[in-house]
Amino acid sequence: MHFRKKRWRCGRASSSPWSLLFFPILPGPVRTVADAQLEALIAFRDSIVEDPLGALVSWAPSTHHCSWHGISCDPSNTSVLAKSLFESQLGGTISPYLGNISTLQYLDLSSNALFDPLPVELGLCSELVVLLGLGRQFFNCAFPDSICNCSSLFALGLNSNDLTGDIPSSIGNLVNLEILVAYRHQLSGSIPTSFWSLRLVKTLDLSENQLFGMIPSEMGNFSRLSILQLHLNQFFGQIPPELGQCRNLTLLMLYSNRFTGRLPTSLGNWYTWNCCGCLTTGCPDGSIPSSLMKLSNLTYLSLSSNNLMGLIPTSLGSHSKLEQLIVHDNGLEGPLPPSIINCSRLAIVSFLGNRFTGKIPVGLGGLRNLIFFSVGRNFMSGDIPDDLFNCSNLATLDLARNRFSGYLKSGVGRLPNLRWLRLHVNSFSGRIPPDIGNLTTLLSLELGETALSVRCPWRYQSCRTCEGSLFRRILWMGCSMREFSS
Ligand SMILES: *[C@@H]1O[C@H](CO)[C@@H](O)[C@H](O)[C@H]1NC(C)=O
Ligand SMILES: *[C@@H]1O[C@H](CO)[C@@H](O)[C@H](O)[C@H]1NC(C)=O
Ligand SMILES: *[C@@H]1O[C@H](CO)[C@@H](O)[C@H](O)[C@H]1NC(C)=O
Ligand SMILES: *[C@@H]1O[C@H](CO)[C@@H](O)[C@H](O)[C@H]1NC(C)=O
Ligand SMILES: *[C@@H]1O[C@H](CO)[C@@H](O)[C@H](O)[C@H]1NC(C)=O
Ligand SMILES: *[C@@H]1O[C@H](CO)[C@@H](O)[C@H](O)[C@H]1NC(C)=O
Ligand SMILES: *[C@@H]1O[C@H](CO)[C@@H](O)[C@H](O)[C@H]1NC(C)=O
Ligand SMILES: *[C@@H]1O[C@H](CO)[C@@H](O)[C@H](O)[C@H]1NC(C)=O
Ligand SMILES: *[C@@H]1O[C@H](CO)[C@@H](O)[C@H](O)[C@H]1NC(C)=O
Repeated sequence: MHFRKKRWRCGRASSSPWSLLFFPILPGPVRTVADAQLEALIAFRDSIVEDPLGALVSWAPSTHHCSWHGISCDPSNTSVLAKSLFESQLGGTISPYLGNISTLQYLDLSSNALFDPLPVELGLCSELVVLLGLGRQFFNCAFPDSICNCSSLFALGLNSNDLTGDIPSSIGNLVNLEILVAYRHQLSGSIPTSFWSLRLVKTLDLSENQLFGMIPSEMGNFSRLSILQLHLNQFFGQIPPELGQCRNLTLLMLYSNRFTGRLPTSLGNWYTWNCCGCLTTGCPDGSIPSSLMKLSNLTYLSLSSNNLMGLIPTSLGSHSKLEQLIVHDNGLEGPLPPSIINCSRLAIVSFLGNRFTGKIPVGLGGLRNLIFFSVGRNFMSGDIPDDLFNCSNLATLDLARNRFSGYLKSGVGRLPNLRWLRLHVNSFSGRIPPDIGNLTTLLSLELGETALSVRCPWRYQSCRTCEGSLFRRILWMGCSMREFSS
């Protein structure tokens, strides 16, 4: 539509991370209609110019508004409590009448194509506890400061809107705020001082903005803080040691800022850890801190792109709860510790781009949760242990650019979820096993410079759909598309 195209601006698609919080539609007897609320809903509907999925089809006068799609009412008196229209592809503006629904507690409009700033009248919704999404909208992308009037607000999620400008200091009014998520915008300036009085905050995600300033020591007062994500901003100065007082912290992402100095030693007690991505200068001493290895409750360890050198400690296997081990793009060397097979919960393992040598440890087949395994761009050798093909959840297997040799065995067909198989630039020999044709989910197969037979000796019985768009990233193949689809 012409109108939409002209005004569209903040256009990055994103699905709502909040969908799990979907408010249940409350059942309720249909009684008297609160006129102002009905009028406001109708005004909302009328300001929507595009509704390709028919989300508002049920919004007809012939039915009670409490049974309209996305609307939840107070079962006792039909006041509108919740409005949940996420991922509905609605296009249009948000009616200022929304502010008349004084009982509104929950509003989720994420992942729609609404534009214009949030109406300031929404600040009249004094009972609003959850405001989510608003993904992909706003023409005038400033942080909606009228929202800071809604002091009942418990969760505010403004994802992927290209909001610009400062976070208003009125944010300090949101004394009940526990969740603030506003990642991937163009927010700039520093976090207003008033924010640091919001001691109930549990989740703070302001990552991927242009925020700057120092993290004040008051951070240590956020005793409930569980998730802190400030990565990809311009914060600078020391990471305050007081952060170590936030005992409930389970996820800390501070990488790609301009912090200086060492990691405070007080941070050694966390159950989970996202360490040294936080320091542009890399880890202290350039090796993996042994104190990290004492954190036996670690579930997430990311040390990527930090100029780390040395070995992975052999005690790795004592991290039985580890789910993600991400150390790509460092200078780590030596063999992968065989004890890794005892980290039985591992789902994501990236050793990509280091100087590892030796073989792939035998026993990885026991890692039933493994979905991503990359040792690409290293100096590893030997053959692929058969049991790696027991990891039936594997979606990405990347062994490219090493010195692996031997046959590619037919077990590869046992990986029904495989999407990315990268084997190129190695010394494999022999033929490509025919059961590769069983990998119907495969999106990319990279086999170039492997000394594998360049003929494609199998037929793609079960994989006809792989032709064309689905099988779109056959790189380094030595085989033409036509040979694949015969
Ligand atoms: C309906 O009940 C709620 C409390 O459950 C109250 O806050 C609200 O004002 C009532 N609405 C009307 C229209 O009576
Ligand atoms: C509802 O809101 C609109 C616009 O904000 C306002 O003009 C109107 O008077 C309100 N209606 C009622 C019934 O409160
Ligand atoms: C903020 O709330 C006050 C009273 O609760 C109200 O008078 C004022 O209009 C509201 N401001 C905005 C921008 O909604
Ligand atoms: C908040 O943090 C500051 C600086 O760390 C400290 O001086 C103050 O005592 C803390 N206040 C509370 C209530 O914990
Ligand atoms: C920390 O988490 C535990 C367990 O979830 C909870 O019982 C405790 O109240 C939390 N502490 C604070 C200060 O929120
Ligand atoms: C790991 O967690 C358990 C229970 O949550 C706790 O008792 C134990 O002290 C933790 N261990 C470490 C090293 O933090
Ligand atoms: C795995 O853990 C078991 C039990 O703790 C231990 O006996 C075994 O040696 C470990 N395996 C490796 C390869 O470290
Ligand atoms: C892998 O699967 C094979 C056959 O299905 C089985 O014999 C072998 O023990 C498995 N290995 C591991 C490590 O699970
Ligand atoms: C591949 O598929 C064929 C036919 O569908 C089947 O007979 C064969 O056992 C499969 N191979 C593997 C390794 O799953």
